[in-house]
Amino acid sequence: MASLKTVLCLGVCLSAWIICTADNNNAPKVENVRWVSLDFKTILTWTTTKSNHTYTVQFSEDNGDMRETPDCIELSDAECDLTNYLEPYDRTYTADVKTEPVSDDFDYILEEMPHTYSPPFNPYRDSNISAVKVTVEPVDESRVIINITDPLTGIHKSGKQLTIREILKNDLMYKISYYKSGSTGKRDIIAPSTVTEVSNLDAGQSYCFMVAAFIPSRPKVSQLGAWSVQSCTQRDPDILQELSLEAWVGAVFISLTVLIIIITVTVLCCRCCQQRNRRHTSQSSGPI
Ligand SMILES: *[C@@H]1O[C@H](CO)[C@@H](O)[C@H](O)[C@H]1NC(C)=O
Ligand SMILES: *[C@@H]1O[C@H](CO)[C@@H](O)[C@H](O)[C@H]1NC(C)=O
Ligand SMILES: *[C@@H]1O[C@H](CO)[C@@H](O)[C@H](O)[C@H]1NC(C)=O
Repeated sequence: MASLKTVLCLGVCLSAWIICTADNNNAPKVENVRWVSLDFKTILTWTTTKSNHTYTVQFSEDNGDMRETPDCIELSDAECDLTNYLEPYDRTYTADVKTEPVSDDFDYILEEMPHTYSPPFNPYRDSNISAVKVTVEPVDESRVIINITDPLTGIHKSGKQLTIREILKNDLMYKISYYKSGSTGKRDIIAPSTVTEVSNLDAGQSYCFMVAAFIPSRPKVSQLGAWSVQSCTQRDPDILQELSLEAWVGAVFISLTVLIIIITVTVLCCRCCQQRNRRHTSQSSGPI
C-alpha cells in the first residue's frame, strides 16, 4: 500500500514536472539581444521566434544586483527604452531579458524563466553621436570662423533636454576636416571648442568644411560621431576667371546683336536723311 502511494506520488510529481518543463519549453529564449544607442537615448532590442509572449527586462550596474524598471515589465514589444535608468553614464550595464510563460495560471518564479543576457554596455563610451550643425563665416581673405552646434541628447534634466556637451563635458572635442575646392588633399584639425578659427587659407579660393564630434577618451570604434553636412565658402568673384564658356558665348552674342542693331539703325537713318535731302533738293530745284 505504501509503495503504491509512493508510485502514485512519484507519478503526480513527474507529470507536474513534465507540464512545468513543457510550459517552459513553450516560452523560448529571446535572441540577438543588443543595445541601440544614439545621443544617449538607449534602447535594448531583441528578436523572438514566437509572437505572443511577454518579456521582462532586468539590468545590473557594474555586475551588481539585478534591478527591474517599471517601464520594462511584461512587455509585448521586443524592445525596452532604458535611457532614464542607465545613470551614472560611465558604468557598465548588463541586461537580462526573460520570457514569461503564456499562461499565468500559476505563480512562476522569475529566476526560472528562460532568459538571455545582453552584451555589456557603457553609455558614456558606447553611445553613438549624431552629426553636429556647422556654419562657416569668412573673417578675411585667409581666415574663417567655424561655429558648431552640438546635438541634443535623449536625456532630460529638470525639464531641459541636455546637449552632448552637457554630458561629455571636456571629453568632447571636434574633428574639422577641410579641403580646397578642386584639390584632393584633406586637412584635419582637432578643436576643443564650438567656435574655432581656421587660418592660413589661400586667398580667393573656395574651401569646404566638415565637422564631427570627437571623443579621444573613448575606444577607437566609438570615438568619432557622424560627419556634418559639408559647408563651403565662396570663391572670390573674380569675373574673368569665373565666367564659363556659355557666359562668354552669351556675352559675345549679345554684343554682336547690339552692334548689328546700332549699324542697322544708323544705316536706315542715313538713308532716310539722304532721301529727304534729295527730295528737298529736287522740290526746290523743280519750278526753276
Ligand atoms: C553605432 O553605430 C554603428 C554603425 O552604424 C553600429 O554598428 C553600432 O551598433 C551602433 N552602436 C550602438 C550602441 O547603437
Ligand atoms: C497567440 O496568438 C494567436 C494569434 O496570433 C492567438 O490565436 C492565440 O490565442 C494566442 N495565444 C495566447 C495564449 O495568447
Ligand atoms: C554660432 O551660432 C549660434 C547659433 O547659430 C549663434 O547664436 C552664435 O552667435 C554663433 N557664434 C559665433 C561666434 O558666430
